[in-house]
Amino acid sequence: MGPLQGPGFFLISILLFVSCIKIIGGSTSSDLFYTYFDGGAYISSEDSFLKNRSSYRRSHMPSTSPSLEEEDCGVWVTKYSEEILELAKRPETVEWLKGLRRRIHENPELAFQEYETSRLVRNELDQLQISYRFPLAGTGIRASVGTGGPPFIALRADMDALPIQEAVEWEHRSKVPGKMHACGHDAHTAMLLGAAKILKSRENNLKGTVILIFQPAEEAGNGAKRMMQDGALEDVEAIFAIHVSHERPTGTIGSRPGPLLAGCGFFRAVISGRKGDAGSPHLSVDPVLAASAAVISLQNLVSREANPLDSQVVSVASFNGGDNLDQIPQSVTIAGTFRAFSNASFYGLLKRVEEVIVEQASVYRCSATVDFFKKETQIYPPTVNDEYMYEHVKKVAIDLVGAKNFIVVPPMMGAEDFSFYSEMVPAAFFYIGVRNETLGSTHSGHSPYFMIDEEVLPIGAAAHVAIAERYLNENG
Ligand SMILES: *[C@@H]1O[C@H](CO)[C@@H](O)[C@H](O)[C@H]1NC(C)=O
Ligand SMILES: *[C@@H]1O[C@H](CO)[C@@H](O)[C@H](O)[C@H]1NC(C)=O
Ligand SMILES: *[C@@H]1O[C@H](CO)[C@@H](O)[C@H](O)[C@H]1NC(C)=O
Ligand SMILES: [Zn+2]
Ligand SMILES: [Zn+2]
Repeated sequence: MGPLQGPGFFLISILLFVSCIKIIGGSTSSDLFYTYFDGGAYISSEDSFLKNRSSYRRSHMPSTSPSLEEEDCGVWVTKYSEEILELAKRPETVEWLKGLRRRIHENPELAFQEYETSRLVRNELDQLQISYRFPLAGTGIRASVGTGGPPFIALRADMDALPIQEAVEWEHRSKVPGKMHACGHDAHTAMLLGAAKILKSRENNLKGTVILIFQPAEEAGNGAKRMMQDGALEDVEAIFAIHVSHERPTGTIGSRPGPLLAGCGFFRAVISGRKGDAGSPHLSVDPVLAASAAVISLQNLVSREANPLDSQVVSVASFNGGDNLDQIPQSVTIAGTFRAFSNASFYGLLKRVEEVIVEQASVYRCSATVDFFKKETQIYPPTVNDEYMYEHVKKVAIDLVGAKNFIVVPPMMGAEDFSFYSEMVPAAFFYIGVRNETLGSTHSGHSPYFMIDEEVLPIGAAAHVAIAERYLNENG
């Protein structure tokens, strides 16, 4: 599919616009998959709450415009998408976007340390004469463009990098040893600044206010949660965010309704016995055996206790005991992660992980304590897309990049702290492809070889703008 450039593209998008209603009405096998879950036992109360709000919103949508009969396309005309894409793809804008992204890429900053990145964002907002609140959550920013009145709709970018040594040899590689933008948050920040610039130039078109959220610490510290504590979602009625994806060709957009990303938690258990001479095991209490039994039993949670149609994971990723071949150690530490797609399944797993480890340890006369890092809030709930907001992203994407470049993606076991926002207001999270075989941008996020096709930047910026402007247009 490739980048969506050239004059032919605009013609195609006009044709697709005409047929967008039919496409939206269609269902794919993935839709059916979701529908199955929909009727299933595992759907949690917060899911139905979100659906309820969607149906409320749908029933209160403004009705049709005089010229277009179909409600779904509202008063929006494809010309706006074309204008937005044209603004985003102006050579000077593309160069500016690449420059921003490269500066951020060269100076990666870890969770809650995004000082320079935040300063860069604020400098650009100042130059664009966009007002903002700062700081939220230490380095975070809440900017606004539009009328200053309702409705308020939010677009979010994350700014933090990862503790990874970049292995990509290129001109703008990380200048900080051991730190790298290996998840694409540099691109997310640049795309949202791109959106800020375009939205500002179209401020007269906005029928409400767009809130631009630049947040710290997606990767490690739950920046979203602290942003909300500091008022990031004040007045906001819906929120959207982009994530780059190495799995899909540059510029393609993908999402799905309902559960998209898993809830994610980590655990570390210390299983204690009594150390002793390994040649006389009867004189010690062996935590190696107890921990081994706990690892085996943890596997049964998913295979025996979970609904096979409700995907869950428990992985023990670390097992550490003594290092003396002649000694039974005093204790063994096991640690790992657990994931699930609904709140109920997720917290159910958390409870059972603890029970199984403690009870198995006691079978072998050991004791155990299990830490879920709740103090560091390293628990991410599932990311659930609101159906109405998902449909909004879908129709905007089809209008902007064409139906063949919109993909209904399967749920993934990865996690996102965007889920904290999606618990509070109707939300949609979507992917934008950065895969280009020629460039080699085929490595997954968190790989030291991760890279993106920078041609994605204007398309991502345009997607943000069209989502916000059209939402206000149709709901303002
Ligand atoms: C990949 O990137 C190269 C170099 O920028 C470009 O010429 C090519 O069109 C891109 N291919 C696709 C499929 O996007
Ligand atoms: C859904 O909305 C209706 C009417 O607004 C309300 O009575 C009902 O309690 C709501 N259900 C949930 C699950 O929030
Ligand atoms: C998820 O479940 C936990 C534990 O039962 C509960 O404390 C929390 O409020 C729930 N969250 C939502 C959004 O329902
Ligand atoms: Zn990441
Ligand atoms: Zn990420």
